[in-house]
Amino acid sequence: RERKRREGVNLLELSASYFRERLKMPEGRGAREYLERRGLSAEVQQAFGIGYAPDAWESLKRHLGERGIAESVQVEYGLLVQREESGRTYDRFRDRVMFPIRDVRGRTIAFGGRVLGDAKPKYLNSPETPVFHKGRELYGLYEARQANPRLERLLIVEGYMDVVALAQFGIRNAVATLGTSTSEEHLARLFRMVSEVVFCFDGDRAGRQAASRALETVLPLMIDGRQARFLFLPEGEDPDTLVRREGQAAFEDRITCASPLSEFLFDQAATGRDLARIEERERYASQVLAAIARLPEGVLKSLLLGELSRRTGVDQSRFEALMARDVAATP
Ligand code: GTP
Ligand code: MN
Ligand code: MN
Ligand code: MN
Ligand code: MN
Repeated sequence: RERKRREGVNLLELSASYFRERLKMPEGRGAREYLERRGLSAEVQQAFGIGYAPDAWESLKRHLGERGIAESVQVEYGLLVQREESGRTYDRFRDRVMFPIRDVRGRTIAFGGRVLGDAKPKYLNSPETPVFHKGRELYGLYEARQANPRLERLLIVEGYMDVVALAQFGIRNAVATLGTSTSEEHLARLFRMVSEVVFCFDGDRAGRQAASRALETVLPLMIDGRQARFLFLPEGEDPDTLVRREGQAAFEDRITCASPLSEFLFDQAATGRDLARIEERERYASQVLAAIARLPEGVLKSLLLGELSRRTGVDQSRFEALMARDVAATP
């Protein structure tokens, strides 16, 4: 199995260098211009190993074939697609800017590819393979640790371009999930490396929903000493567009001012509610209480219960009793 893994990683590494070479060739011109339009310097392109998959059906396939890599292995690692009816194989990634996804040791384990124009799908990722599990990996984690081995804080953003654009502006601690929502496994991994995570999703409805889900996911992991904060971007912006418009210092100020988990938790429950009304205050309290119940026992939990009690005028001991009752009622 270990031999198999090595074979896969070797093939992925060969593919990554192939894509990088292609970017420098005449056929990579469109992609070079695209990257330039998006403001990515040669240095950042190199740090992230960005490349280009040619506009052809069998270009990587031929390249790897000449190096003795069986088609079945290329299919298994997601570089070739196999048609069901005919069994014919062809390159999965064509005419795309290629982002290698690396594991924490820097080995390429998968790719994300972006179209140069507005064709669909905008991004194409490697499928699940023996070495790639979307719910576990984070784009940019290796590069962030390369830039600073003593990271204390990581920024979680939505996209590849957000990670590289922030790096371009000197903010080298961003990571992105790979088109999936942030999982407990992602967060557990990050908290093994840093004590603070800052969620920074797009300023749109999907981004705000992602932040709510991230709050739910992070609650059980909030043992003492860990911090989670939430940075909300202006409507229509993502980290890439915003850092480009405002620059490094302004973006860093936003990170500094990001809402702590406690603030987001109360604000979110209050959104759209008229807390002068008793019934709405009741729903507010229930929502906050349900979130607090997900926290591990600790100082944060007690403090938040105290705060909820102050905000609603209900005794903290009542909330504690309710929480104990709900825990007992859970099968
Ligand atoms: P740019 O347009 O290049 O700036 O991309 P973006 O990162 O801003 O895209 P968006 O906010 O639409 O999506 C965020 C992330 O979701 C992307 O980086 C991808 O990882 C993923 N994603 C977006 N579109 C697609 C898609 O069509 N297919 C897949 N599989 N993932 C996508
Ligand atoms: Mn898997
Ligand atoms: Mn978006
Ligand atoms: Mn975006
Ligand atoms: Mn974007």
